[in-house]
Amino acid sequence: MKSPIRIAVTGATGQICYNLLYRIAAGEMLGKDQPVILQLHDITEAQPLFDGIVMELYDCAFPLLSGIITTDNPEVAFNNADIVLLVGARPRGENMERKDLLAANSPIFIQNGRALNTAAKRNVKVLVVGNPANTNAYITIKNAPDLDPSNFSAMLRLDHNRALSQVALKLHVPVSDIKRMIVWGNHSNTQFPDLSHATVGNNSVSSLITDPAWIENYFIPVVQKRGTAIIEARRGKSSAASAANAIINHMQDWIFGTREGDWVSMGVPSNGSYDIPRGVIYSFPVTCQNGQYKIVEGLEISPSDREKMQKSYQELVTEQEAIKHLLA
Ligand code: NAI
Repeated sequence: MKSPIRIAVTGATGQICYNLLYRIAAGEMLGKDQPVILQLHDITEAQPLFDGIVMELYDCAFPLLSGIITTDNPEVAFNNADIVLLVGARPRGENMERKDLLAANSPIFIQNGRALNTAAKRNVKVLVVGNPANTNAYITIKNAPDLDPSNFSAMLRLDHNRALSQVALKLHVPVSDIKRMIVWGNHSNTQFPDLSHATVGNNSVSSLITDPAWIENYFIPVVQKRGTAIIEARRGKSSAASAANAIINHMQDWIFGTREGDWVSMGVPSNGSYDIPRGVIYSFPVTCQNGQYKIVEGLEISPSDREKMQKSYQELVTEQEAIKHLLA
């Protein structure tokens, strides 16, 4: 039997985690032969909610679940952690602008970064999910100076999966037949879902779409605004099952590698590729091997697509400006 992997999760009493923890404990993220220890964090007020969550975890009698810790102290949660999923964040309240959300969440991710720096394994893999995910990842990295920035990523996988599904529905092909989809940029409605490099078998997706206006008028806005559409359809609740699923997909690919001839979208520190300056956490197409991600280089980008990519970059710069004083 392998030794257990320690997985820390914040926001663990929230709705994404109710769709996530049981799947992790069942072996869906790390495999059916990998024992796990769940190190669950939430704020003090939420601690009573752990009672039911832990009772249900035990009632599933998961053979792979080797231990459960619950705490309101991030250092305890991240202690010796191999994987950290930063899901916990303040939800966007009514009349709250994006900059207010940024200000409300910055202290959470400053604290997360410091606790990771102190307590987590040096080769920990950290996925930032809580919104605004890219800038929260940036804040976390800045506060964990002893950890390599390549240990961190922000989640754009839900957007990537949404883009795959829209194309699969349009072309009546299985999702698994579509390769090389990209979502560039910020996890917000400035993101750029880009199917111009995507393929189905030996064909490009673009060549199979007989009404090209569909891409600009339907595909791009539907993927960009899907989060809002889900909130409306779920009477105020945001994506939870699909977000949990995306976390599992993201971590699986990062740890076990992307499939041959394909890539995935991940929010990672820019290395300057595609005219996106270093210093932002930006979603790029990446391949993963041996637990490391690598930005796919050298794709041809049209001038109008470059403009879309820059628009999302500019939004990230504005977000960084808005929290700069908190990092000083
Ligand atoms: P939720 O509101 O159900 O749960 C949020 C959790 O965060 C709660 O357990 C809450 O107690 C905790 N929390 C609140 N303040 C905190 C603090 N100061 N420190 C630590 N934890 C704190 O929200 P849900 O639906 O589980 O979503 C979690 C986050 O994930 C949200 O920020 C949401 O916007 C984001 N999200 C990101 C997606 C992505 O693709 N990157 C997709 C879907 C959601």
